[in-house]
Amino acid sequence: MAFVFHSLVDDANEWRTELKALIPDLDYRVWPDVGNPTEIDIALIWKAPPGMLAQLPNVELLLSLGAGVDHFLTDPDLPENVPITRLIDDFCATAMMEYVLLQVLRFHRNDPIYQNQQSNKEWIFHAPKIAADRTVGIMGLGALGSESAKTLKAVGFNVRSWTKHKRNIDGVESFSGINELPAFLSKTDILICLLALTEETSGVLNKHNLSRLPKGAYVINVARGDHLVEHDLLSLLDSGWLAGAALDCFTEEPLPDSNPIWSHPKIFLTPHASTGTNAPSAARHVAENIRRFYAKEPLLNELNRDTGY
Ligand code: GLV
Repeated sequence: MAFVFHSLVDDANEWRTELKALIPDLDYRVWPDVGNPTEIDIALIWKAPPGMLAQLPNVELLLSLGAGVDHFLTDPDLPENVPITRLIDDFCATAMMEYVLLQVLRFHRNDPIYQNQQSNKEWIFHAPKIAADRTVGIMGLGALGSESAKTLKAVGFNVRSWTKHKRNIDGVESFSGINELPAFLSKTDILICLLALTEETSGVLNKHNLSRLPKGAYVINVARGDHLVEHDLLSLLDSGWLAGAALDCFTEEPLPDSNPIWSHPKIFLTPHASTGTNAPSAARHVAENIRRFYAKEPLLNELNRDTGY
């Protein structure tokens, strides 16, 4: 029984320290220096390199180092019937909420317009609105979406949600299913995508749907690049239908130099940095799942492969 770690963004040594403090006898190995790969039964991974999963024939538990598990689901070597868990802790949800709040407030208080005016030395007043004058629509009410919805509500925004199945949060107007998507979009001034990436949600931010937002709406994508049809967003920004976008994730990461999104005047972008995994708190979650796995108890945040989240 041995454990393997792989990530290009998380620190293998920090994770070793945190996990060994919780499980002192953990046989912790770091990909690709794993010794005999047939000994590995548990893997903690953020984006396995091609072929890695095929080289772990006895893996019995796959732990994602992030909230998303699409990196496992799109891997052609993903073994069938091996449980997969998502990593969601309070740090991850709080960091996402802060990022979402920042972008919503930037758009709400005309920050992009004033930044532009400052660079042109233009003194033009735009009457401020308050949060109660603005409707924010959140797609996806998982752990991350719910946290952001509650905070935006507490700040005073009108908040509405769109989910696959009806979900209720106090004070948040709930829309669900494809039939209610047009009504949800029609009064959303600032749209936030926090959906899991599945076959059903891939490309949901397309011209057809984004054109249903009121003129002058803003789009924030903090889920996955593949939720967004980039070309459709660019054309709606260029035609003036949409006023701006904040993007944290892209179909191709790092975003290639040649992508026009880099220099689009109405787009603010960050390099998949909206939230992250915090080893000290996340390791407790991972260690608990390792304990549950060996004790044959139900796992925390286990993926339902049918729904994709
Ligand atoms: C990051 O994108 C994650 O899924 O945690």
